[in-house]
Amino acid sequence: MATGLLRRAFTGISSSPAPTAARYVLLRAFASEPQTDAAVPTAGDTSKMKTFSIYRWSPDNPTKPELKEYKIDLKECGPMVLDALIKIKNEMDPSLTFRRSCREGICGSCAMNIDGCNGLACLTKIESAGPATTITPLPHMFVIKDLVVDMTNFYNQYKSIEPWLKRKSPAEEPGKEILQTKKDRAKLDGMYECILCACCSTSCPSYWWNPESYLGPAALLHANRWIVDSRDEYTEERLDAINDEYKLYRCHTILNCARACPKGLNPGKQIQHIKQLQLAGANA
Ligand code: SF4
Ligand code: SF4
Ligand code: FES
Repeated sequence: MATGLLRRAFTGISSSPAPTAARYVLLRAFASEPQTDAAVPTAGDTSKMKTFSIYRWSPDNPTKPELKEYKIDLKECGPMVLDALIKIKNEMDPSLTFRRSCREGICGSCAMNIDGCNGLACLTKIESAGPATTITPLPHMFVIKDLVVDMTNFYNQYKSIEPWLKRKSPAEEPGKEILQTKKDRAKLDGMYECILCACCSTSCPSYWWNPESYLGPAALLHANRWIVDSRDEYTEERLDAINDEYKLYRCHTILNCARACPKGLNPGKQIQHIKQLQLAGANA
């Protein structure tokens, strides 16, 4: 599968304007070329070898990126892709670089592209059968090193929607929490669970082509989270701030975002809700 993928990746990097970071471009895995797999087991051999083909690029040696193969025995490895990465780093190649923290789908830092799909390495099971597992950085992001991408633009877009409670009226009891009904609290379901992993935004074709001007599914999901919150008193201002041809209306409801979300959220649905509110405001 890797030929088409790599060709795109190299092209993107060589034309990148950024001097110290590679821009990684991935089209979903179209290709289906045969791949060499792990060692063939022999009689009495109890090992279960698996090959991992991992994207490598370092700013310290800024040549073309490559897919480097590592073979590990699955019998001596945990079940998840992150277990394999940690094993490779600890036992075979300490220079392999990736982010991770919680190992249980909470921190969002191990987001990467695994066999053509964005996901969390700690929640993705190793495919024991079949060919090599290919692991690359989140697509269409500048690569800092190996599987680590630059999240600055993504976080700035999140910051731009002002993701905190904003009030106009003074608190009834200073220092006390502002309560909401169970029904109002339930309206936040499907949004508050977001861990900002960026799997959705980096799988969105509209975000690929307009990463600086389109806010993308993650930031817009959070915009809706505060628009819907019964305690927030800046709903109109929040709607006005994103009522923009690029910030909001680059979403074409393709729903790649919902397919990619490892937490089972549907950012496309939340974006639809914002658009409906904009329409209702325009017709009022
Ligand atoms: S629904 Fe909108 S945000 Fe989601 S992938 Fe499609 S264009 Fe992107
Ligand atoms: S909506 Fe899902 S995929 Fe997108 S950032 Fe949040 S948790 Fe990640
Ligand atoms: S390590 Fe935290 S989500 Fe995977």
